[in-house]
Amino acid sequence: MNEFLAELFEQAKQARGRAHAPYSRFQVGAALRAASGAVYSGANVENAAYPLGVCAETSAIAAMVAGGDREILEMLVLGPKRIAPCGACRQRMSEFAKGSMLVYLADASGACSRHSLSELLPHAFGPEDLNGNADVE
Ligand code: THU
Repeated sequence: MNEFLAELFEQAKQARGRAHAPYSRFQVGAALRAASGAVYSGANVENAAYPLGVCAETSAIAAMVAGGDREILEMLVLGPKRIAPCGACRQRMSEFAKGSMLVYLADASGACSRHSLSELLPHAFGPEDLNGNADVE
């Protein structure tokens, strides 16, 4: 693991330790590097009203936007074991993945697999699909 990935792993690990997951007891942390070079992290935040829970990846993306960045270069996801992001989070990544974004799926030992976002979300729907197709009179 190179130093850039190690930094993402460390940030994801710290965020995972702060996850609010009392219902599933499934803690997840995520850390991303934005085009500016800044690193943002997030954890899953569950709620007693179950459907309101937010995934770690989405939290990290919200932190990035609040921090003033708009482009994700790479993201590392760390769960209790190696897990793949849910479909909604893949779509949210896609919104901010201008180039060929990479997604690293890690386990606690630091072992990780590397995927392009287009591998995880082929044929994505994006802003360009909205152009000129609105059903307005
Ligand atoms: N979760 C994430 O935060 N990221 C994933 O990639 C998969 C699932 C969360 C959602 C919920 O709080 C818990 O893990 C169990 O699904």
